[in-house]
Amino acid sequence: LETESISNDFEYVWHIVPVDLGERSYDILIGPGLLLEVAEDLKRLQLAHNYFIITDSNVKELLGTDLLNIFNQNDIQASLLSFPAGEESKNMETVVSLAREMVKLGADRSSAIIALGGGVVGDIAAFLASIYMRGISFIQLPTTLLAQVDSSVGGKTGVDLPEGKNLLGTFAQPKRVYADIATLASLPLRELKNGLAEVIKYGVIRSPELFDLLEKQGNEIINLEPELISHIVAQSCAIKADVVAKDEREGGLRRILNFGHTIGHAVEAAAGYQIAHGEAVAMGMVAASLLSVKKGLLSSHEADRIKKVIKGLGLPVAIPSTFSVKELVDLTKHDKKSIGGKVNFVLCESIGKTVIRDDVTDDELSEVIEECMSND
Ligand SMILES: NC(=O)c1ccc[n+]([C@@H]2O[C@H](COP(=O)([O-])OP(=O)(O)OC[C@H]3O[C@@H](n4cnc5c(N)ncnc54)[C@H](O)[C@@H]3O)[C@@H](O)[C@H]2O)c1
Repeated sequence: LETESISNDFEYVWHIVPVDLGERSYDILIGPGLLLEVAEDLKRLQLAHNYFIITDSNVKELLGTDLLNIFNQNDIQASLLSFPAGEESKNMETVVSLAREMVKLGADRSSAIIALGGGVVGDIAAFLASIYMRGISFIQLPTTLLAQVDSSVGGKTGVDLPEGKNLLGTFAQPKRVYADIATLASLPLRELKNGLAEVIKYGVIRSPELFDLLEKQGNEIINLEPELISHIVAQSCAIKADVVAKDEREGGLRRILNFGHTIGHAVEAAAGYQIAHGEAVAMGMVAASLLSVKKGLLSSHEADRIKKVIKGLGLPVAIPSTFSVKELVDLTKHDKKSIGGKVNFVLCESIGKTVIRDDVTDDELSEVIEECMSND
């Protein structure tokens, strides 16, 4: 996928990924050190009269205050707002309290929101932007690998209810995304792996080249080698952007992004959300490849390659055998993306090529889950 078209306006941009959505099109800029030139770029863009940087308590300390200082040095009016880090904050109470703070600080329709942080910040801040005074502009500054390759691309915003995750939300596209890969240096390994699970997914569903890279350069990736990680983020964004451009509201093609997620969500639910999302998706991808072999779609050699890449990047390939197989099978049926009671499984024909099937039987699923429980 083509991602290069660097403009001279930038010092720190290594890749630009255009997201083609007609009037709502925007660019994803990627490179190390990029945060340093966001203020200057926003001055050029003249997006808003004043900016509200929304972040969480961790990222505020790591990057938020510095970013605010850069805005001030550039004579851009900006305020820094934060909430306690963690998924527990992703609710309406946080949205309302941020909105009230913005009103107090004089935010109006000519203001813009900057989401600085991981997927939790991105989802909350973009949701707030999409409803504040019936919608104001926002930009994304993702600081986790997951946010850079997944949640900041595609326009889904939202918060959780006690009844379930992401039950309230909107579709809203940012004006620009700045993925500064240097921010990943402070990211705990567990969070890095959450993002890597999604990168592996992109390789499997859409890009044999990306998959090869993950296969051959696992160590360099874990060590965040800047050129490599910028390239991987760009490729991942390009794949998601391409899928989203063809199916913005999840009518069809976008479902392929769910590879590994149907069984992964069941594992997460069975674990009472005590297993990291990326780890559950990793197990789900192994299970989905075995299911693809069982359906006669994928060779066992390719399924093995998928398993090895997942393992090589430090992600789990075995579903804990303490879980009940029957419970996991039942939980896949409650996946919110099932249609008319039928569960759609994203299966794989070869690395880079997927197919959606709704004819997986409970027996086939049970056999595959059992097989995954004895993986090593
Ligand atoms: N909108 C979408 O399309 C979409 C897609 C996938 C996931 N999501 C959502 O994304 C959320 C998960 O995102 P996440 O994994 O980024 O979690 P997160 O936002 O909770 O970030 C994980 C942790 O890393 C910290 N952190 C962030 N940047 C850091 C940095 N540079 N250095 C050190 N620590 C840093 C955060 O404070 C947090 O403690 C979920 O709520 C999920 O529903 C949304």
